[in-house]
Amino acid sequence: MNLLNHVRSLFAPVLAEVAPDRAKVPDYLGMVKPSVNADHGDYQANMAMAMGKAMGQKPPDVAKTIIAKLPTNDSLETPTVAGPGFINLKLKDTWLAAQVRGIATDPTLGVERVAKPKTFVIDLSGPNVAKPLHVGHLRSTIIGDSLVRILRFLGHTVIGDNHLGDWGLQFGILIHGYKNFRHDAAFKADPVRELARLYVTIRKQFKKDDEEEGPTDDPLKKICQEETAKLHAGDPENVALWKQFMPACLEMLRPIYERLDVKIDQALGESFYNPMLMGVVDDMLKKGIAFESKGAVVIPNAKGIVPQTDEEQQKEEPPAIIRKRDGAFTYTTTDLATIKYRMETWKPDAMLYVVSSPQALHFKTIFAQAKRWGYDGVAFEHIQFGSMLGPDRKKISTSGGGGAELETLLNDAVSVGRKRYEESVAERRTHGHDVSELNESEVAAIAETIGVGAVKYADLCQSRTTDYVFDLEKMTATNGNTSTYMQYAYARCRAIFRHGALDEARFRSSPPAVIITHAAERTLALQLLRFPEAVEAAAADYLPHLITAYLWDLAKCFSGFFENCPVLKAETPELKESRLLLVDLVSRVIKQALDLLGIRTVERM
Ligand code: ARG
Repeated sequence: MNLLNHVRSLFAPVLAEVAPDRAKVPDYLGMVKPSVNADHGDYQANMAMAMGKAMGQKPPDVAKTIIAKLPTNDSLETPTVAGPGFINLKLKDTWLAAQVRGIATDPTLGVERVAKPKTFVIDLSGPNVAKPLHVGHLRSTIIGDSLVRILRFLGHTVIGDNHLGDWGLQFGILIHGYKNFRHDAAFKADPVRELARLYVTIRKQFKKDDEEEGPTDDPLKKICQEETAKLHAGDPENVALWKQFMPACLEMLRPIYERLDVKIDQALGESFYNPMLMGVVDDMLKKGIAFESKGAVVIPNAKGIVPQTDEEQQKEEPPAIIRKRDGAFTYTTTDLATIKYRMETWKPDAMLYVVSSPQALHFKTIFAQAKRWGYDGVAFEHIQFGSMLGPDRKKISTSGGGGAELETLLNDAVSVGRKRYEESVAERRTHGHDVSELNESEVAAIAETIGVGAVKYADLCQSRTTDYVFDLEKMTATNGNTSTYMQYAYARCRAIFRHGALDEARFRSSPPAVIITHAAERTLALQLLRFPEAVEAAAADYLPHLITAYLWDLAKCFSGFFENCPVLKAETPELKESRLLLVDLVSRVIKQALDLLGIRTVERM
């Protein structure tokens, strides 16, 4: 149950009766919110001020009227009015206790499936294959995967579609490199590595650090563009090379996805749509959405302006070229074909594009065009995100030099993860804790879990539109809003069961009664029950950081509980049972929440 919605549901009939204007009821309901300050109760209802104004009544009187009309219920203590008309709401301890016990037998821990499931296509990851996977696509992969998990957890149908860049200039680069600089023996022995080497070698010699479409004065880039054009035109040699390279290119990606625990449902790359592009252009011409202009095919923008050059296309308004003068199709054409294909194949209610902010204009353009083309019944959304910055606060270079390769970055994170673990073991031993000796493979698994988890959590824990600094030390801190901290909290819960030689299964099948004796116990119980609120809010605005924020609060509540409420040494056997149930629930909620972020846990650390 979503607690906030539950509280709002008590107010809904009252507001419908009392509100001066029925249309305003949803706004007033939105004014029931979690209290910022726990002294003011668990939730607060702040509509009396606005309603009082509209009704020409004193807000405290309106507040009293609302309270008097609230339906009888067993969840709320009698509400109180504070200040200019705030209604403070406190949930009853007995009710909280019963609810917590209730979620213990629920595999989804209180989170309900949506009443009306929708179909989402999530465009995620989208690396340009043929080159080593780069940090630039890390955020799209991590955020996209988390959204897949969150929406699916709520019962939606989700198709994660990896729109691979497998048809662009990078293949021209590879083809040129292969034709002129390949080492045959190296290619035979390890095509993946040799292609990566060729890509980097050629790419480093480009005058400018970009692979943008359009005319260039760089002779090397021009050659690569020509090889790409030949590929697109069906040149048998280049097409054969492309086919030969593709498996190796996909093989470069596979281990990284595996390591990141990202399962891709579909990987329909740009090449898949190539045969459909002509049809897209023809159809748009026929429907009068696009027309010919100086040999190119263009879609004018809303003001009817037709772009004549690539520079003009970059400008603010979204007109677009869908076939260039030389016959080449563009990124836009491919994306339009993709929309058509997705609509025909999956009939989604929404298409989410998890792609970095600099492409905002591109998406604004294609969404507008797709709507004019007839795809207006689907919700298009560009899920933007900012950049990952280096320690110098500069964007981590996307240069072809392969500098900031993802694999290196993950390896570094895992070494820091191992160091963290070793430090924590040493520290716990100095404090006289009995820390079990783990073998090398167990330690390696812990380091991997900490390292990869830290990279993901750091990425997900800020509002996605902001840039953030990649700082391994901070990301793996054992106290603070990090995955490492959450993973330790999880392991700590599990250790309590291990040390007590207790079987958690019975707490999940026939949970004991929950007894609330201490403020810290109550706060923890309430926070556990807020899990659905966090998941639903994260899904509503596609913001995974609302789940990390929830986890951070949960971890703090748990730490307060742990300091104040002995578990194995609780005063009575009943209290011990109740506290064990809370501990087990904390571990389950942490594990589930981390799983929604794509982060693993280990049983002992
Ligand atoms: N490959 C593209 C890039 O690296 C990202 C693809 C995003 N998805 C899309 N449907 N355009 O910029």
